[in-house]
Amino acid sequence: MKRYVADISRKSVVLGVTGGIAAYKAAQLTRDLQRHGIDVQVVMTRAAQGMITPATFQALSGKPVYSDMWDTGVPDSMAHIELSRGKNAVVVAPATADFIAKLANGLADDLLSTLCLARECPLIVAPAMNRQMWDHPATRRNVDRLLRDGASILGPASGDQACGEVGMGRMLEPGDIAEAVAGFLAPKILKGVRVLITAGPTFEPIDTVRGITNRSSGKMGYAIARAALDAGADVTLITGPVSLAAPAGVALMRVTTAAEMFEAVKRNAARAGIYIGVAAVADYRVDKPSRHKIKKTDHDRLKLALVPNPDILAWVAGRPRPPFCVGFAAESRNLDAYADEKRRRKKVPLMVANLAQEAIGADDNEVTLLDDRGTHKLPRAPKEVVARQLIAHIAKLYASRGRKPR
Ligand code: CTP
Repeated sequence: MKRYVADISRKSVVLGVTGGIAAYKAAQLTRDLQRHGIDVQVVMTRAAQGMITPATFQALSGKPVYSDMWDTGVPDSMAHIELSRGKNAVVVAPATADFIAKLANGLADDLLSTLCLARECPLIVAPAMNRQMWDHPATRRNVDRLLRDGASILGPASGDQACGEVGMGRMLEPGDIAEAVAGFLAPKILKGVRVLITAGPTFEPIDTVRGITNRSSGKMGYAIARAALDAGADVTLITGPVSLAAPAGVALMRVTTAAEMFEAVKRNAARAGIYIGVAAVADYRVDKPSRHKIKKTDHDRLKLALVPNPDILAWVAGRPRPPFCVGFAAESRNLDAYADEKRRRKKVPLMVANLAQEAIGADDNEVTLLDDRGTHKLPRAPKEVVARQLIAHIAKLYASRGRKPR
């Protein structure tokens, strides 16, 4: 089969760390940005180095950390110009009240502030400060001015503060900042397209307390929902029982059984431009679940009669004018052959194959994409990264169908 490569470009940012207590959280942020496939170049202020050492960031980012205007380690010795060239954004996290004041007034008296003034890429700022500093009219004015200058402000959040007070001013959690940055940088390749996604397991009752389910965590489906949202899509997520928070902005429908999932899909399929069936739908359900808890004293041997559930993906793909359908195949062996057979049988243009024993419940995944043009293996990566690559591939195939978006 022909091999081809999905066009996915890596993103890179300058992470500016200023001298707030939350500077220690920037270490986790470095990791979280990388988890989204974003390269990180750290630049610190002198005050930040009083909170956390450059060596920590150097080890995490794998790159030298800069803080000096005249650092000779930067090619051409023009660190304030060179470091932000070719970057997709400068992210300042944490941004102290003092640094925000400098940004708002265009001051440039150290490497990070000069770099922010000399940049060509967007500026994203995550404030972190005491609640009174955040509420102060001077800070309000500075933040307003930054917004008017085109910067994006992430947070702050409300909660316990390092000073012992409670209120607005805490830096957003690193994971939330990384998600927002990744979303901001994602190309809007599915703008206005309606995407319907199923995720998680289904639960088929045996009696009032017991049931048949599987170990799907929902992580892959939720990551795909997030990636589609970030690509500008209008996302409906139909989810089986999982313990994950849904991405803000999706229309969420919670279901339990395959039959409920099928009903929810039927109600939404006609409007969808793209259908992505990530859910691990139970193939069978108990024919007549007991309306009372089954007592073991009533049975020596207990036989459960199982009847097949409808194949939701095959139903969507078989509609007269189907959305662009994507299926997931979880196999334990013969991955490509079984997945391709499933793709043809269910008549879906794209099947995503993974090894069940490696994918289910894990944070990472390694998938193979199978479509009319051949197979393409994506390297093992965090599910967030796999999801973005998959959305990029789907958007390309969807656009090449030459249909109007719906
Ligand atoms: N699927 C579905 N409805 C079902 C079963 C599966 O929509 N009742 C969808 C899944 O969401 C997934 C794809 O079909 O996108 C593949 O599911 P899978 O269970 O791996 O395939 P099956 O056809 O059930 O084959 P088998 O279990 O024999 O491997």
